[in-house]
Amino acid sequence: MNKAENQILIIFGASGDLTKRKLIPALFELYRQKLLPQKFAVLGASRSALSDEDFRNLANDFLPEDEQLDAFKELLFYQSVQNNSANDFVPLKERLDKLSNKLGITANYIFYLSTPPSLYPVIPRLLCENGLTRSEKYFRRLIVEKPFGTDLNSAKELNQQLLNYFEEEQIYRIDHYLGKETVQNMLVTRFSNGIFEPLWNRRYIERVEITSAESLGVEGRGGYYDNSGAMRDMLQNHLLQVAGFVAMEPPVVVEANAIRNEILKVFQSLRTIRENEVSRYVIRGQYTASHINNQKINGYREEPGVAKFSRTETFVALKFFIDNWRWAGVPFYIRTGKKLPTRVTEIVIHFRKVPHHLFGDTGTGGNNQLIIRIQPDEGILLKFGMKTPGAGFKVQTVNMDFHYSDLADKKVPAAYERLLLDCMQGDATLYARGDAVEAAWEFVQPIINAWDTNPEIPIYGYPAGSWGPEDTDKLIVNGNWRYPCKNLTNDGLYCEL
Ligand SMILES: NC(=O)c1ccc[n+]([C@@H]2O[C@H](COP(=O)([O-])OP(=O)(O)OC[C@H]3O[C@@H](n4cnc5c(N)ncnc54)[C@H](OP(=O)(O)O)[C@@H]3O)[C@@H](O)[C@H]2O)c1
Repeated sequence: MNKAENQILIIFGASGDLTKRKLIPALFELYRQKLLPQKFAVLGASRSALSDEDFRNLANDFLPEDEQLDAFKELLFYQSVQNNSANDFVPLKERLDKLSNKLGITANYIFYLSTPPSLYPVIPRLLCENGLTRSEKYFRRLIVEKPFGTDLNSAKELNQQLLNYFEEEQIYRIDHYLGKETVQNMLVTRFSNGIFEPLWNRRYIERVEITSAESLGVEGRGGYYDNSGAMRDMLQNHLLQVAGFVAMEPPVVVEANAIRNEILKVFQSLRTIRENEVSRYVIRGQYTASHINNQKINGYREEPGVAKFSRTETFVALKFFIDNWRWAGVPFYIRTGKKLPTRVTEIVIHFRKVPHHLFGDTGTGGNNQLIIRIQPDEGILLKFGMKTPGAGFKVQTVNMDFHYSDLADKKVPAAYERLLLDCMQGDATLYARGDAVEAAWEFVQPIINAWDTNPEIPIYGYPAGSWGPEDTDKLIVNGNWRYPCKNLTNDGLYCEL
């Protein structure tokens, strides 16, 4: 692995939740593993008046006790900035110059936008007006947090605005799902094994199911979530990207643009769900109050910050098709929601049945499944039929499983560790490209439009702690959803969660 060049990471929104919960801990882990550049500093920036010392202690609750912590904290600095005019960034520029000189760091800068999204176009403009976005000698990169737009038009507008100040190659759009080791492993599973890829098409695969369940509700972020919902928060970005990795063609090389070209082609092949087809292909739901273990669980509309008659979906299930040579006619299903029975993200590849059932429909029912578990109990499970010992030919389903936890000597890195390191090294493979983000919005926009304009499309209630609205089952013609358990190898409605 190339060591990243010396550089300064500037985090806008440095006093916020994401910085302290995810970014600083991820940087500390990179420090511990000696993966940071030899000369490196973090400059936190937000409006609050904090000292360097305050900023160094902000993430204390989220950092492990470790003898290296004090040395790491020496790399952290803070500058208070306003965002109203170009002049407001002069102190920031001066501070960067000072840090570069004092620490002997070349003026390579990564700007990380971890602020409210309304500032995503503003900060790049102010940086540009201070001559900080381009340099002949040094690199300048911009990381943009989610959400990237709230609909197709705002995403396009944001892309255009950013491109006024940065080149596409300088822009790194975060989709933290792509930073997950298990998502990246999909490329390896598919393209480094002779046994899977020949089967990875419409002839052998009957359907693909992607589930991303959360057991938590909105957890105090009701105000934010009520303006977003499951479609915007999870499906348009993370889960379509995961579908892209499942469905893409082999890239020519393992390199950012080669991989991102293939993902874009998948998005361009998504069959449009027209507004009048939405009820047939999409189910939306909202959790209602229930009792779990004799404890009352609030419904979504009772959560603080949520409108009393909110029609924001906390659950969405979708059936769709990818109209290309490989996938013609194969239904893809995505299901995601809050307050479901367990926290799990996984992909299930359902293989077609054998053409002739010699042993009857026992056991697997002739269906093999490959389950790729993104989280938790990360791993891969293959389900297939074996003869039950004894007389006759009774078939039972057995599991062959690999768990990442078995690789005791390797820790699975957190998504933000991997993504920050990649950006430091100038590798954009795991970041979303502007055209793909727009293509993903193109696909979901008609669905959102239909929901907005047609109040007759139901929003089904589902009791908190259940697997979503019952009507979700009607989307799948040939069978049921897999109901995953905490443990990769088990499934079913009544397993340990
Ligand atoms: N938290 C997460 O887990 C998470 C996950 C994924 C994506 N994100 C995204 O990351 C971004 C940051 O999220 P967060 O949870 O950290 O939000 P947050 O806790 O509300 O923090 C926002 C930060 O922006 C600064 N800020 C607010 N208004 C500002 C303004 N007008 N000018 C300059 N700075 C301003 C705040 O500091 P001052 O008030 O001191 O300026 C604060 O440091 C959001 O866009 C969010 O959607 C967050």
